[in-house]
Amino acid sequence: MRSHRIALIPGDGIGPDVIEAAWKVGEAVAAKESFALEPTRFPWSCEFYAETGAMMPEDGIEMLRRFDAILLGAVGWPASVPDSVSLHGLLLPIRKAFVQYANIRPHRLLPGVEGPLKAEGFDILCIRENTEGEYSGAGGRIHQGTVNEVAVETAIFTRAGVERILRYGFEQARLRSGRLASVTKSNAQKHSMVFWDEVTRELAKEYSDVEVTSYHIDAMAARMVMAPQSLDVVVASNLFGDILTDLGAAIQGGLGFAASANIDPTRSGPSMFEPVHGSAPDIAGKDIANPLATIWSLAMMLDHLGESAASERVMGAMEAATARGIGVRPGSHTTGAITDAVLNAIEKD
Ligand code: IPM
Ligand code: MN
Repeated sequence: MRSHRIALIPGDGIGPDVIEAAWKVGEAVAAKESFALEPTRFPWSCEFYAETGAMMPEDGIEMLRRFDAILLGAVGWPASVPDSVSLHGLLLPIRKAFVQYANIRPHRLLPGVEGPLKAEGFDILCIRENTEGEYSGAGGRIHQGTVNEVAVETAIFTRAGVERILRYGFEQARLRSGRLASVTKSNAQKHSMVFWDEVTRELAKEYSDVEVTSYHIDAMAARMVMAPQSLDVVVASNLFGDILTDLGAAIQGGLGFAASANIDPTRSGPSMFEPVHGSAPDIAGKDIANPLATIWSLAMMLDHLGESAASERVMGAMEAATARGIGVRPGSHTTGAITDAVLNAIEKD
């Protein structure tokens, strides 16, 4: 029997709620499709930090390396650990260490979900650079606490990094409508973003079948609200992609629906799948978090593992549930009720 080893990192806040829900769906679909998912749970979180002084053990990355994929809930409990410490101690090092350079985030309305826009029928695939750029972590502070204090945060754009994420964007565009939107701010940021635009033009010659348009981030933000149907594959740097994908989540009805895959397309290490939303400490453990973003992320994980039939089953079951009005509005149903609706749809399928 085919088997996949999965590292589960529920993390903080609603992370455990949504991972538990998604994992039930994973087990159900694996049984249907006759493969096995072998889970190993890692308690790495802000609670783990309180006990050990670190978000994960020193050899945490090495422990994860032997897995086929990682499914992560959420990281962050700012009341006890500053976000800058918890994120740089767990989520961001995993993305970088396993060179998960493509952060893939689909934005479309599930059936029955009413977004805040009049527009319907959009289907945007955001591809966010995930290992460098504005979130490289390079920089420092001097003269702290004095009037002469200086803080420097250096964005790093390497040719290898920019080229591989753009190439991934072109490839995805080829698989979809053949249209790619590349997002920069090259009118104001005259080094890194002009460089990104240049690499885009160079690659465009290799992908003459793809129609590529360069947008500035501010114009793209407006376009995603005013004309989301005009977009297909959108590729952006780490910071710009981060912001655009919360906007994408908003137009698809909220963070409760937004899924993501942190992919290493070379498959040299495990890729990681996680909802776009954070740990939402205020609603943790209350059985009200929407698990659909994590269930959708699970579907992306199954597809990545080569279980495309299982992935389609999960998507179909989610869509059957939302089409019946389950989980379509914040607070409309409990985490358990939404999960059960998806499980029922899988059973009936
Ligand atoms: C996301 C999150 C993270 C990110 C934060 C928590 C560091 O906002 O996955 O979009 O920006 O990468
Ligand atoms: Mn974000």
